[in-house]
Amino acid sequence: MKLPFPLLPPNASTVATEVDILYWFITAISAFFVVLVAALVVIFTIKYRRRHEDEVGADIHGSLVAELTWTFIPLVLSLLMFFWGADLAFRLARPPVDAMEIFVVGKQWMWKIQHPDGTREINQMHVPAGRNIRLTMGSEDVIHDYSIPAFRVKMDVVPGKLTTLWFNATTPGTYHLFCAEYCGTNHSGMIGEVIVMEPQAYEAWLSGATGGPAVPPAQAGEQLFAANACATCHSGQPGAIGPNLGGLAGAAVTLTDGRTVVADDNYLRESIMVPLAKVVAGYQPVMPPFQGLLSEEQVMQLLAYIKSLKPAGPAAH
Ligand code: CUA
Repeated sequence: MKLPFPLLPPNASTVATEVDILYWFITAISAFFVVLVAALVVIFTIKYRRRHEDEVGADIHGSLVAELTWTFIPLVLSLLMFFWGADLAFRLARPPVDAMEIFVVGKQWMWKIQHPDGTREINQMHVPAGRNIRLTMGSEDVIHDYSIPAFRVKMDVVPGKLTTLWFNATTPGTYHLFCAEYCGTNHSGMIGEVIVMEPQAYEAWLSGATGGPAVPPAQAGEQLFAANACATCHSGQPGAIGPNLGGLAGAAVTLTDGRTVVADDNYLRESIMVPLAKVVAGYQPVMPPFQGLLSEEQVMQLLAYIKSLKPAGPAAH
């Protein structure tokens, strides 16, 4: 039987089949119990209907076997759904360390994409097949949501923080890209294409994609670092006004209030935009905020630069 519409989107990532199996498992269990309960309601209504005006209902007491059965079976089924779903959710939430990073910025009403070599595109994302891809995403205005149904992945893109999404596309082709969070008048038009290419074709596309020389995000970040005179304080020298940034990304940081936090993307972003939110132990709260002065794209570029710094710091770069 051929349906007049596709039941599921194309299956084009390494997790798509797993997500589908879990989805169908939950759907089948739910459908089974809906039918069972509805059928029993009808059957019992007929079977145990009142037959005489003066009929009195039977006095029924509990059944330990029945109660244990209808407690234990749903418990096992729902715990199975929970652990299965949690396992998948955790794996989807943790990008592999070898993933190639692509930057995504959402704004009303378009998607801006930047590749590691600096190539940019709008409402289109070219990616190589068979490679782990990590998207680092920010929003310039309201909440959007980056959704690629063929890969069975989606993630909110939220102003004021960075979110990540990862996938490994299996099959070359062109797939839908949607904004999956209502974000204003032209939300429905905030759509695009994900184009999965063979790795060589992707490299060829990258080299031919830009008119001028593309500036890699880390290099653009280095220019921003210089333009904003960040190195005045973050010189990497002993006794500098600001902490050494070399080797900072991903490291544990002790704050003035004694807490220890991990310098992940959102810590670094916050420390640029609202520096006084978390001041590193041993330093004065003197850094000016860059909230409103830097775009999300520029923050991502600064992060790319900071991540590229070796432990010796900017001075030795
Ligand atoms: Cu952006 Cu909906």
